[in-house]
Amino acid sequence: MPKAISIHQTGGPEVLTWEEVQLSAPAADEVQIRQTVCGLNYIDIYGRTGLYPVGDLPAILGMEAVGIVEAVGTNVDAFKPGDRVAYPMQLGAYTEARNIDANVLVPVPEAIDDATAAAMMLKGLTAHYLLFRTYPVKAGDTILMYAAAGGVGLILCQWARHLGVSVIGCVGSEEKAELARANGCEHIIMYRDENIPERVRDITAGKGVAAAYDSIGQATFMDSLDSLRPFGVLATYGNASGPVEAFSPAILAPKGSLYVTRPTLATHISTRELLMEGAQRLFDVVSAGQVKIHVNQTFELADCANAHRALESRQTSGCTVLTV
Ligand SMILES: NC(=O)c1ccc[n+]([C@@H]2O[C@H](COP(=O)([O-])OP(=O)(O)OC[C@H]3O[C@@H](n4cnc5c(N)ncnc54)[C@H](OP(=O)(O)O)[C@@H]3O)[C@@H](O)[C@H]2O)c1
Repeated sequence: MPKAISIHQTGGPEVLTWEEVQLSAPAADEVQIRQTVCGLNYIDIYGRTGLYPVGDLPAILGMEAVGIVEAVGTNVDAFKPGDRVAYPMQLGAYTEARNIDANVLVPVPEAIDDATAAAMMLKGLTAHYLLFRTYPVKAGDTILMYAAAGGVGLILCQWARHLGVSVIGCVGSEEKAELARANGCEHIIMYRDENIPERVRDITAGKGVAAAYDSIGQATFMDSLDSLRPFGVLATYGNASGPVEAFSPAILAPKGSLYVTRPTLATHISTRELLMEGAQRLFDVVSAGQVKIHVNQTFELADCANAHRALESRQTSGCTVLTV
């Protein structure tokens, strides 16, 4: 029987339990994978604390991994045993082995190693949809982003820079500022101390930014709105500081006829076509070296609780992976 990280109740990192789980043969449309590396994502914390539902308990947490196909169901011809595959945004990833719908799997190019693949799928596809679909950036735009030295952050700022965008990155420490600068952030805001809209106005000669990609949520929502140019777009896509509180859409008019959207990767990979379009663009920029995947922390899957502690306490930079 494989071992997995499950929760029997929601709560702090101590609820993460390393235990044996059942694994049957794959169903007709499924593939069975022996996993090698799992990605760690902030959404795993929302699942653990109960902010996002994870279905009936006990539940296996985790949303992305890479591994080797061991067996395929009778309807599956896209994959065969021995193939190396990865997937994003599929609950139940913190495990040594699992069955999963073949449609959500992406073949991993040979040049991309397992740790990189596990680190980049969920975060890289998020950066992709934010830059190409939520507010499609244009060369010459200036954008504002948060946790610029984080997992999604370091990918987002490199990719935006590659597309000719000027990036203002908010970071929580000098060390993170250095990392963000080295990865495409032209301007840095130390948002624990500095006033974000004031700094944005200074940097943009009073104009404001075309888009703000906000993963912090509650603590920064109003600052993001106040940093936009007229008709600017706020993509509030995460809640690291807590969920955004209810607000009246009427406030968007005097601030410049603004747009607010609350996107999720789930919608942006909800069909095979959408998933593969994003994956192809992501593999292309990573393979070409235009976006580097920084795997800055590695834990064993069984030691997942300490990985959660590090991510939650803002001690990590770049991506974190969990080796199986
Ligand atoms: N909607 C979607 O489709 C989607 C998909 C993927 C990720 N996300 C969101 O994107 C964000 C980034 O995810 P990630 O996995 O790459 O994590 P991450 O950015 O590597 O880690 C979170 C970072 O948020 C910053 N932060 C600010 N206030 C915080 C607080 N009160 N508590 C903890 N951290 C705080 C910290 O950076 P500083 O020290 O620099 O402040 C911290 O390092 C998360 O909010 C996640 O939910 C959304």
